[in-house]
Amino acid sequence: MPACLLCEHPIQPFIDFGPMPIANGFLVPEQIEDEPFAPLRVGFCDACKMVQLTELVEPEQMFHDNYAFFTSSSAWMCKHFAGMAAEQQGRWLAGRQNPFVVEIGSNDGSMLLNFAEHGIKHLGIEPSGNVAQVAQERGVDTTVRFFGLDTAREISAEKGHADLFLATNVMCHIPDLNGVFAGIEHLLVPDGVLVFEDPYLGDIVQKTAYDQIYDEHAFYFCITSLEPLLKRHGLEIIRVEPQSVHGGSMRYTVGKLGAHPVHDSVPQQLEIETELGLGDSATYERFRKNVEASRDELMAELDSLRAEGIRVVGYGATSKSTTVTNYCGITPDHVAVISDTTPLKQGKLSPGAHIPVVPYETFQSNPPAVALLFAWNHEAEILAKEQTFIANGGRFLRYVPKVGYTKAVEVQR
Ligand code: TYD
Repeated sequence: MPACLLCEHPIQPFIDFGPMPIANGFLVPEQIEDEPFAPLRVGFCDACKMVQLTELVEPEQMFHDNYAFFTSSSAWMCKHFAGMAAEQQGRWLAGRQNPFVVEIGSNDGSMLLNFAEHGIKHLGIEPSGNVAQVAQERGVDTTVRFFGLDTAREISAEKGHADLFLATNVMCHIPDLNGVFAGIEHLLVPDGVLVFEDPYLGDIVQKTAYDQIYDEHAFYFCITSLEPLLKRHGLEIIRVEPQSVHGGSMRYTVGKLGAHPVHDSVPQQLEIETELGLGDSATYERFRKNVEASRDELMAELDSLRAEGIRVVGYGATSKSTTVTNYCGITPDHVAVISDTTPLKQGKLSPGAHIPVVPYETFQSNPPAVALLFAWNHEAEILAKEQTFIANGGRFLRYVPKVGYTKAVEVQR
């Protein structure tokens, strides 16, 4: 039986998605023959309560110099980060002498840019060379490496200790979380804080958002599992703030044990988690049944659209869509192409399902009857942008939280 990544307790997976390609592994036809597949299984550790993948793909296979996600491709995410940076700067850096801000998984510098613009000392730590280079070109200090206790020691020796440590949508990617939290505890000044956000397990369970489960996301966090883990590293959660980004995320503010008062939001959210049963294995058995039902409903709709010759195009070549297409059995016969604004993905095939990814301009010039909303986490932004498509009778089909059309209207058949 696989063992917990954090406490080594044996874990029985509660969903086996089957063999999956690399979620962000967009490829050209010549690469199909050698396309790597690995099992995707998710489990719940009865001992430490952490929901996690029970099989992992080597980080080098996922985060490399062709890593295809650029934060700056989403205007709303950039706005979200600008707001977050301003808020954290006001909350934690005011009155500090020459504060130092560190961010891991700093991508193209979209967050740190907000600190750099105020002349604040900062460092981005980013393992993917291509996105890090963009950050550097934008004037954001960035080093290309993975973060752990050794890196933390090197940084503190070279640049001093950090007042604010940021991580958005990155912590859940790191299998050696023990090493990361040990590194953060080392790097922070005594009253420094870590602010991180990741997709929230409570949202995943409530919305049956099973497509958040893919190779890059080793962990699915909630306070119930994070609290004991952080305490083992001399850290504690002092505030939580639910976020709407990435389909439902949680922002955790963490300080050294006893250094800051604990905000009411922490016990309040813990109570919600107890009601949701996030610490009980039975919850995940129910979740699996909901996932199977969602898959069956989505395929029934896509099969019927195909039977009627209705053209469906995917909207957003997300990593999440790799889980959906491969787990549900979506083929180019169901979804002809996927529209995406990221140049690096355009002209490639989606992992496993091999659906061609086309530029957004193709969607605009030849709009389909139905757009399958793979980028459902950006739904508000996309619906605002696609008023003309909708006005002309186009429909968005989504599968989170339920399979259905974004407007309560039938597709023109
Ligand atoms: P992302 O939100 O990062 O999801 P994941 O983590 O599952 O990959 O990816 C969103 C993708 O959708 C990205 O490739 C850009 C694309 N996209 C569009 O094509 N059009 C849009 O309007 C938006 C907001 C995103």
